[in-house]
Amino acid sequence: MVGASTLEMAAAVTNAGGLGSIGAGAMAPADIESESGRLRAETGGAFGVNLFILPPARPTAADVDVAIERLRPWYEARGLDVPAAPNDYAPDFAAQFAALVRAAPPLASFTFGILTAEQVAALKAVGTLVVGTATTVAEARAWADVGADAVCAQGAEAGGHRGTFLKDVDESLVGTMALVPLVRQATGLPVIAAGGIMDGRGVAAALALGAVAAQMGTAFLLSDQSAVSTPWRRAIETAPDDPTRLTRAFSGRYARGIENDFMRLLRPVEREVPAYPVQNRLTQALRAGSAKLDDPEAISLWAGQAVGLAEAGDAGALVRRWWDEARAVARQLAAR
Ligand SMILES: Cc1cc2nc3c(=O)[nH]c(=O)nc-3n(C[C@H](O)[C@H](O)[C@H](O)COP(=O)(O)O)c2cc1C
Repeated sequence: MVGASTLEMAAAVTNAGGLGSIGAGAMAPADIESESGRLRAETGGAFGVNLFILPPARPTAADVDVAIERLRPWYEARGLDVPAAPNDYAPDFAAQFAALVRAAPPLASFTFGILTAEQVAALKAVGTLVVGTATTVAEARAWADVGADAVCAQGAEAGGHRGTFLKDVDESLVGTMALVPLVRQATGLPVIAAGGIMDGRGVAAALALGAVAAQMGTAFLLSDQSAVSTPWRRAIETAPDDPTRLTRAFSGRYARGIENDFMRLLRPVEREVPAYPVQNRLTQALRAGSAKLDDPEAISLWAGQAVGLAEAGDAGALVRRWWDEARAVARQLAAR
């Protein structure tokens, strides 16, 4: 979880018997290698590295100017400097991928796109298991076709950005309950269920649907090892019923978060903002500056639909508790 997870969180999860992951989507290639080395040393066990599959961004200067002008009032209202057009928008995926192959983590997972069969083979050759994120059955089949070892079936409930890469968001909103068994049936691959899983009940449900594992994001946001800012944490703790919406306004790619002024007021023009990663880069200083000002209305409060179930505590203790709960739920069901 870029922006929310930490190496400490990943280590705690792995050391509790789960599989911690480094959110490396925004990392420089050299950091991917060093962070993998650190996590390997701190856990001695299995862990994953997650990357965003993105083509290089080449927006026109005119499009960037329009996007900056649209954001100007949001910066100025907070006394923040309006950014100039940046020189780059996101780390180069090809360089990140080369670093990943050198780091050779036990598992690598990908979102926002799909690898080629050659790239999958290159990771397998260094002993890395390849997991592709799919939000539809067609995306899962595409990952199976390029040779992925497993598919993360990510339902519409999920917080933050999702893996959608084949169709428009409107056609990629399958719920976890439907997606997991469908992906299992379509691909025969091991399936990792994601979206709306917050505790042992959800883990048991995911396994009952045929998943080999549950991937949990929002459930860790209040953990001791989470990097969420103070206003983001408070928004989670005080969220009203049914607080999340999908928005394209912050990043140029649909993502789920707790609704705030930025999401509400930019909704009419959200389809016009430049595609990820351009808009994401242009709002970066606004989000960071607003977090420093303790202002929740212009930061991306990423969270999934089940955010109301998030609990505080040590990430490792949460993992152990969820697994105990899942086993208890399975026993209760067997006794019915
Ligand atoms: C704050 C946040 C950041 C996320 N960042 C990433 C990311 O960098 N890469 C990724 O593959 N998924 C990311 N996700 C999605 C999670 O991997 C996971 O699929 C999702 O959280 C599962 O649904 P849940 O939020 O209901 O648990 C993020 C989710 C959240 C909430």
